[in-house]
Amino acid sequence: MASIGVAIVGCGGITLQNHLPGLALCPNTKVVALCDSDAGTLQRAAQQTGIKVTSTKYEEIVGRDDVQAVIIATPNVTHAPIALAAINAGKHVLCEKPIALNHAEAVQMLRAAEAKGVRHMTAFTYRFVPAMRYLAHLVKTGALGTPYHFRSCRLQDWGDRALGWRQVAKLAGSGELGDMLSHRIDFAHSLIGRMDRLVASLKRFIDVRKGQPSDLDDWVAIISEFANGATGALESSKLATGRNESWRSRDYVEINGSDASFVFATERWNELQVGKPGGLGLETITIPREFFKVPGSPRDIAVGDPLVTFRYDQNFEFIDAILNQRPCSPSFADGARAQGVMDAAILSSREHQWVDVPDLKP
Ligand SMILES: NC(=O)c1ccc[n+]([C@@H]2O[C@H](COP(=O)([O-])OP(=O)(O)OC[C@H]3O[C@@H](n4cnc5c(N)ncnc54)[C@H](O)[C@@H]3O)[C@@H](O)[C@H]2O)c1
Repeated sequence: MASIGVAIVGCGGITLQNHLPGLALCPNTKVVALCDSDAGTLQRAAQQTGIKVTSTKYEEIVGRDDVQAVIIATPNVTHAPIALAAINAGKHVLCEKPIALNHAEAVQMLRAAEAKGVRHMTAFTYRFVPAMRYLAHLVKTGALGTPYHFRSCRLQDWGDRALGWRQVAKLAGSGELGDMLSHRIDFAHSLIGRMDRLVASLKRFIDVRKGQPSDLDDWVAIISEFANGATGALESSKLATGRNESWRSRDYVEINGSDASFVFATERWNELQVGKPGGLGLETITIPREFFKVPGSPRDIAVGDPLVTFRYDQNFEFIDAILNQRPCSPSFADGARAQGVMDAAILSSREHQWVDVPDLKP
């Protein structure tokens, strides 16, 4: 079996938390090069991993002969140029979400990857939560019936702390919308189908975070109509005081259809709640063990905190798709679809009106 050399561009929080431990479990995979524009961060990552090939310039890394795949984990503004450089060099690309600053840029990345015939993946990490994988399976096999509603609520308490590049429009594109709601927009697409039109509101409550100006949303809400007639209501906030953060805070998805309702919450990673027509309330069901990890994943489900370790399956999905020459899921197409919704939400909020979501032609 071929061996896959990986270069990681961006050695900050998510690389240390998800990508390095995830790649360490992948078969026939070696991280061969690291890049970070910040020399100190790069040096720390090189010391921690023992990886010798490093550069502060991605151009010196992505084209290397010993690199077959590139993981992009940098601020959003840099995703498209790094991805296009890697794709042009014929490398497979896993890019963090949101994959671009806007829909046009995301579609450009998708088309470039398709034209080069390389694997392309969007890091919609929460698709790999066991309960979400089982829910997607139930929906795909018809358990929902006719879809009526998608509902999602992401509530965290980030207070007024400084968020670095995340609070600067020209670096991040959007605030809470791209940072948190993009994952839930992807849930909506993968469970219900394409969103057709929407009305949205984005609001910033805190203009200065610990002395640094913020020009992006802390809160967002979207009401949407799907192409199949279902409706959506999605809300996400950084200012839900007292709600805590990360997987210890509220991350709720409910879908209602003619045959069933399902409730998913990230922290209940091995459970779903189910409602049946005429039922007296929701019942809790346990996820079958075969959904605890992606088929073929080398991860031992008994090792580590399950609220952390499901993330490692994302890297396995990328590497397995490369080794087996099959499409990744979620792909850049999924990333671009979510970006279309985000563009429409920003426009709707600005214009105070319903907006059509750009369609992604196959
Ligand atoms: N999938 C998820 O669940 C998830 C979670 C957190 C972050 N993210 C995404 O991952 C990306 C990175 O987030 P983070 O939290 O790791 O941020 P971070 O600020 O901790 O790390 C980003 C790193 O990129 C480096 N960098 C900046 N510009 C660069 C360039 N041009 N070339 C090389 N390196 C550069 C920075 O020096 C920094 O070390 C963002 O797109 C974010 O939205 C995704």
